[in-house]
Amino acid sequence: MASFKEHIDYNNLPQHIAVIMDGNGRWAKKKGAMRIFGHKNAIQAVRDVTEGAGELGIKFVTLYAFSTENWGRPKAEVEGLMELLVNTLKQEIGTLMDNQVKLLTIGNTAHLPKECQENLQWAMDKTKHHTKLTLILALSYSGRWEILNATKAIAEDVKNGKLSSDDINEKTFENYLTTSNIPDPELLIRTSGELRISNFLLWQIAYTELYITPTLWPDFRREHLYEAIWSYQQRERRFGKTSEQMNPVS
Ligand code: IPE
Ligand code: IPE
Ligand code: MG
Repeated sequence: MASFKEHIDYNNLPQHIAVIMDGNGRWAKKKGAMRIFGHKNAIQAVRDVTEGAGELGIKFVTLYAFSTENWGRPKAEVEGLMELLVNTLKQEIGTLMDNQVKLLTIGNTAHLPKECQENLQWAMDKTKHHTKLTLILALSYSGRWEILNATKAIAEDVKNGKLSSDDINEKTFENYLTTSNIPDPELLIRTSGELRISNFLLWQIAYTELYITPTLWPDFRREHLYEAIWSYQQRERRFGKTSEQMNPVS
């Protein structure tokens, strides 16, 4: 079977792809296994997508790995996920180095166990000079948490006279988000078929193209990524304008 890769237009690649990696639990359940088995098998998908995106020349990939709401899951699952994060960082550092991937995080990472914070810092320090692909892990992240944090920081700066309320616009607001200096994603992929955003990047996805696939995250591979990018390239992004305005007849 021909690959979607052959049909990708390299002049129209998204710069930034965000992914809601969902369906690990269902994947495990289908196999009669514990949920954590699904999370463990999610790592292959992360590796394949990271390598695939880097090869194509995508500059930013943001992965929703753990949401603010996920803290409410059973204690054993949360602990299992935190342990998996530490082990994965240690195991995959070679992949990050080989592919010149720079690792960043967004989210309330101060809430993560100390061992996670230390390993994240270690991996970020080791990869900070890489420029090929920036891989952003959203950990203890939610869009509302981020927007509230930005609002508090802005209020603080106005109070201290560092910022005038007249100067608050979209650009200044963006500077207070965890994603400042990162372009908004052009494409958001969600696996496992759920038709919702689940508190991800609420500000940043205002005009993002959505791609939802029934594939469960542990089964997702670079070929699925190519298909998502191809699908994105078939669309007309109008940003509120008309089709005629987007394609003027010369
Ligand atoms: C996504 O898979 C991983 C995390 C949210 C950490 P889920 O664990 O949500 O899997 P399902 O949705 O229950 O199948
Ligand atoms: C979203 O998945 C969060 C992550 C992928 C980390 P969830 O499985 O937590 O989302 P809901 O609960 O189905 O909305
Ligand atoms: Mg889920």
